[in-house]
Amino acid sequence: MPQSFHPPQRMLLGPGPSDVSPRVLEAMARPTIGHLDPQFVAMMDELKSMLQYALRTKNALTLPVSAPGSAGMETAFVNLVEPGDTVIVCQNGVFGGRMKENVERCGATPVMVEDEWGQPVDPQKLEDALKAHPEARTVAFVQAETSTGAESDTRTLVEIAHRHDCLAIVDAVTALGGTPIETDAWGIDAIYSGSQKCLSCTPGLSPVSFSEAAIARIRARTHKVQSWFLDLNLVMGYWGQGAKRAYHHTAPINALYGLHESLVMLQEEGLENAWARHRRNHIALRDGLEAMGLSFIVATDYRLPQLNAVRVPAGVDEAAVRAALLTDYSIEIGAGLGPLAGQIWRIGLMGYASNPRNVYVLLGALESILAAQGYKLTRGDALAAAQAAHAAQTDAPKAAVND
Ligand SMILES: Cc1ncc(COP(=O)(O)O)c(C=O)c1O
Repeated sequence: MPQSFHPPQRMLLGPGPSDVSPRVLEAMARPTIGHLDPQFVAMMDELKSMLQYALRTKNALTLPVSAPGSAGMETAFVNLVEPGDTVIVCQNGVFGGRMKENVERCGATPVMVEDEWGQPVDPQKLEDALKAHPEARTVAFVQAETSTGAESDTRTLVEIAHRHDCLAIVDAVTALGGTPIETDAWGIDAIYSGSQKCLSCTPGLSPVSFSEAAIARIRARTHKVQSWFLDLNLVMGYWGQGAKRAYHHTAPINALYGLHESLVMLQEEGLENAWARHRRNHIALRDGLEAMGLSFIVATDYRLPQLNAVRVPAGVDEAAVRAALLTDYSIEIGAGLGPLAGQIWRIGLMGYASNPRNVYVLLGALESILAAQGYKLTRGDALAAAQAAHAAQTDAPKAAVND
């Protein structure tokens, strides 16, 4: 006889999902109501305006797609790209590769601008590619590469795209809530994110936002959007402004309660405060890791505070360390992907999980495991360095956990 599933209580310090706030889980357990119930519709309107706050945009076409970040990515591509188009795709990790796949499946031609994994997208390479391909209509890149922990300069890349009459699609799955995004000020045309990273919500929803220029492109399409589910012309009938809502699909009602609650939490904290908290805890983690003799693969200027890619030192069994963290401490961290497999650990401090308690617990656990593997370190140095880093920051943490 199958039993109810009771997952263990983990500390999710990998590349996502990250720890979900108990407030979000509690919100999701509230009664399910109809997806056209006036009270649900009012909640949707509020959710939309909170997403506009988080994304720093006035875009009317801002909504959570009822599926994970990959569906947000696909929403951007299938609506903005038409068969025969040329799209410049910047790749510096796993997710640029997914963009290429999307472009090809739209019947368009991707032109790849490649950078080494761990490096940001090089603006000069984008400029060169656009000069070589004046027929290009769209540029796509990832702001926060989760596979490497590198952040690209969205403002500059969008500005270059616009100078060459292209629309810019930005992947903000790991960026949103953890690091600055200025959708309107930077002129981003299409942006998508995920609920499970710095928004501290469960996986399965993808906030998206489209500019007026993007909407004009969608309206001028000569081919039908090939995906019925992701066709924004149809989705807008449900998520559009005002009381008139047409059934499109049954919304994931309780998941949306969760996203609503996570955005309430973000507003209570304040977006800039959330960015500052991610930075503070990253600095403490960094100082702790460096005190153990560990190092980062990304240069300081491009390092994401929410995703820390740390080199596995020589002689240390990468997988055994992750297994011990999970088994002995119930802590999840991530492995390297692609060319970085076996070479790095990916430590996420995202959303609700970005707090001093997690930094200290992880450092203590890592120290014990590494010492047991014969790695040379001085016990206690990491914690002392992390605590000193927190103490040195004038906006020091007020509470152990931000709930
Ligand atoms: C940068 C980036 N883009 C896209 C995705 C895909 O999101 P999801 O796994 O929610 O479909 C991820 C997921 O980790 C990501 O990190």
